[in-house]
Amino acid sequence: MKLPPPVEVSTNQVSFDVSEIEPLLQAPPMNLPPWPEAQITLRDGRILYIRQAKLEEVPAMLGYMEKVMKVQKDFYDIVGVRVYGEILGWARKRIKDPFHLVGLIDGEWLGLANGRVMNEDIAISLHTMTFARRGRLGWAMYYAKTYYALEVLKCKEWWSTFESYNGWRMAGVEMAQPTKPWPEYQHELGGARVYYLTQAAWNSGVKNFCEQMIGSAMSFNVTDEVRKANENFRVPETVDL
Ligand SMILES: CC(C)(COP(=O)(O)OP(=O)(O)OC[C@H]1O[C@@H](n2cnc3c(N)ncnc32)[C@H](O)[C@@H]1OP(=O)(O)O)[C@@H](O)C(=O)NCCC(=O)NCCS
Repeated sequence: MKLPPPVEVSTNQVSFDVSEIEPLLQAPPMNLPPWPEAQITLRDGRILYIRQAKLEEVPAMLGYMEKVMKVQKDFYDIVGVRVYGEILGWARKRIKDPFHLVGLIDGEWLGLANGRVMNEDIAISLHTMTFARRGRLGWAMYYAKTYYALEVLKCKEWWSTFESYNGWRMAGVEMAQPTKPWPEYQHELGGARVYYLTQAAWNSGVKNFCEQMIGSAMSFNVTDEVRKANENFRVPETVDL
């Protein structure tokens, strides 16, 4: 859009260094506390190690997501392509206060759970994925990010939506999440219903989800053995979903 200046001007051009534009495009970060590393024993006895993803792992993660987004089964394609955008959005600083948790077994990346913080009161769940099926690994990952939002960040509410039947069952049904009125409230993932958990729901039972649904609690006392076994991050060699 252009309009003529209403006064004589010394120069008719103003230029910016892009570093001066960047603060206007990025949201100022909230300086969130880190996710404390954790471990949990899965139903099949394997120990899942959950920690924050590292920026240097982004290229490998994106490479793997390129393959996952081609799997036209159980909604891996739509979730995969969105997760690709969320990981890239984190690296390119085009997503406000994101968090990405990775679940590893012997260093192999088998689970992802991510979200972002809208403000001090509300955190948004983005996606959960597992790349090794039948272990309820996804359930542990979703629980971990819920724990982060409600227990570590102490947000008042945690907003999710579900794009797949497995995701809906895992967290919508099994955590008994109510929905906000629709269409007044729409989740940022495609405008679907907002399912939500409050501090009251969390404290009245959801907090015990892992013990009830996976059979063991999440532990924040990670053993040296588990930390060592997961020292070297690697993506799975195959996409076996
Ligand atoms: C949603 C998700 C994270 C759930 O995690 P999970 O329970 O560890 O994942 P799985 O897919 O291994 O298992 C979910 C269910 O799928 C079914 N299932 C999975 N593999 C199966 C197979 N080979 N044969 C039959 N049923 C199968 C089972 O019902 C299983 O539940 P059960 O373990 O209680 O029997 C995971 O399914 C996933 O990554 N899906 C794709 C991405 C997605 O939809 N994310 C959520 C967006 S809302």
